[in-house]
Amino acid sequence: MIFCFSATGNSRWVAGELARHLSDQVVDISDCLRRRSLPAGLAGAARVGVVFPIHGWHVPAPVGRFLRMLSAGLPGAAYRYAVCTCGDDVGKGLAGLRRSLGFGAVWTVAMPNTYVPMFALDSPEVASGKIAAARRRLAAVAGDVLACRPAWEVREGGFPRLKTYVLHPLFRLYVRLRPVREGGGCNGCGRCVRLCPVDNLRLSAGRPVFLGHCIHCMACVHGCPQAALSSGGSARRGQYRLEETLRLCPPAEGGNK
Ligand SMILES: Cc1cc2nc3c(=O)[nH]c(=O)nc-3n(C[C@H](O)[C@H](O)[C@H](O)COP(=O)(O)O)c2cc1C
Repeated sequence: MIFCFSATGNSRWVAGELARHLSDQVVDISDCLRRRSLPAGLAGAARVGVVFPIHGWHVPAPVGRFLRMLSAGLPGAAYRYAVCTCGDDVGKGLAGLRRSLGFGAVWTVAMPNTYVPMFALDSPEVASGKIAAARRRLAAVAGDVLACRPAWEVREGGFPRLKTYVLHPLFRLYVRLRPVREGGGCNGCGRCVRLCPVDNLRLSAGRPVFLGHCIHCMACVHGCPQAALSSGGSARRGQYRLEETLRLCPPAEGGNK
């Protein structure tokens, strides 16, 4: 079983690639949190994976909640592994997985950056290079998972403590100060409501209403067909579409999808 949290599709694609290599199934973390329960088959699982993005050099808050729920419901003997997707690096954000949650194997996988309030999107060349490298890396990760190997292949980057313990709290403050807004052009299609993995949106009189627990995951910002939602400098940086990057970088002949 591979549990996955994803806002803009990168981690979902990574989980899907792993599931294909491992003949495993992907379970949505947001659905588990909504239902407040874990799937029935979990008790007998010999290995359990978790795939999610890094947010501000930290595990996203809903993933943290899920991990605590998982840890209470998992058989002690199960091999636990995690794959964290990042644009660049994760600081000390994954340290707790090993220290207090008993994950024996943790990898980071670089994927196209999605955090447009502050940073530019990767160029198409950089983004498709990351996808090609991720395909190779995930084939190797799957081999290690099949063998239940321990691993700690984590790209912490420079100044990891500063990023996680000092900059992360500032990032959370920024999220509160720069909420996602509708800046005109919304046609009331409701896609943002369906995409939000933390149920922070509803439609009222054909317009999105934000309910006050946004995590800046960018699902609505990148997924709005009218590009009507923005935060910080995101409006001038464009929208990220994983499918477009995948089209630029098809799998090698006879290779992975
Ligand atoms: C709120 C937010 C914070 C992010 N923080 C980081 C970060 O600290 N380090 C990094 O390398 N990438 C960061 N990123 C990039 C994402 O981790 C990366 O693009 C990830 O693959 C997105 O996954 P998803 O499409 O499954 O949501 C951030 C993205 C978002 C939306």
